[in-house]
Amino acid sequence: KKLIVLDVDCGHDDAQAIMLALTRPNVQVLGITCVAGNVDVNQVCRNVLRILKVFGRLDVPVYRGAAVPILGNHIDARYWHGKDGLGDVPDPDPPSEELVQSEHAVNALLRLSKEHPGEISLVAVAPLTNLALAVRLDPEFPARLKDLVIMGGNINGIGNITPSGEFNFYCDPEAANMVLNSYKGVLINIVPWEPCVNALAIPYDEWDKIMAIPTERGKFHAAILASSVKREKAAKSYTTHYHTCDPYALMVAAHPEVVLESEDVYATVELRGEVTRGQMVCDYRGVWKKEPNLRIIKKVDMQAAIQMFWDAFQ
Ligand code: BDR
Ligand code: CA
Repeated sequence: KKLIVLDVDCGHDDAQAIMLALTRPNVQVLGITCVAGNVDVNQVCRNVLRILKVFGRLDVPVYRGAAVPILGNHIDARYWHGKDGLGDVPDPDPPSEELVQSEHAVNALLRLSKEHPGEISLVAVAPLTNLALAVRLDPEFPARLKDLVIMGGNINGIGNITPSGEFNFYCDPEAANMVLNSYKGVLINIVPWEPCVNALAIPYDEWDKIMAIPTERGKFHAAILASSVKREKAAKSYTTHYHTCDPYALMVAAHPEVVLESEDVYATVELRGEVTRGQMVCDYRGVWKKEPNLRIIKKVDMQAAIQMFWDAFQ
């Protein structure tokens, strides 16, 4: 089985990535590390436990990580994911928060990479604070990973939280810059923002069927998504297709064969731009003559992707 660790800021698309990870037959989830992002880190931990409970997998260890970015204050995305990050659907019987491990997420990442050298696929779908701290504590950490798949950044300067900044990178640009420039010995696969809203979007006539799967898991998934899907359908730009981000990073890690088109480039992150802080800058033309540090995922097999959602909820 593929050993996967997920680093999440559990909004509803992180929830989908976790749900897919728990239901791929070839995947063993070694642990889930939490970081501030869509909501504060304690709420992230609560959300992860809630999902694990619905899927009967409270045996998966959950670790609390960074509460604030490397510099500055935490920026959240409650406007999109709901006050609780999961669409504000009441949880009548929440799992005990004591289930969160006492070990810090960053220490857990370092330890797990030593226990399973060369075997772990790290799937990071949140601000990269934990990953940046891990490489600063132990520069050899990245080389002990099997691979790393990130959801974050942008490839054409199109943002979602600012005109030029994608949420995960904008929330902790220093961390994103540290990861892109100091994860030596591991090629980073990245699912950026723009493909998520274009090539990876799912027509609503297909997505609505997934939202109607009548199992306990399917109903839970549909409930936490309901408010954002409604908002999206009403938005002028996204009326025909559902778009989501984080589950694609999990798919790439669990089933690399789903990738149909990718491009290797050197990319870094703008830290000081007056209006572009947090933007990912790709040297497509090789002006800096640097070795590629990223594999940009541009297209995946959408039939396989849609099937993975069905598998998760049926
Ligand atoms: C990313 O931002 C978060 O709100 C989502 O969970 C996803 O990881 C998309 O830009
Ligand atoms: Ca996320």
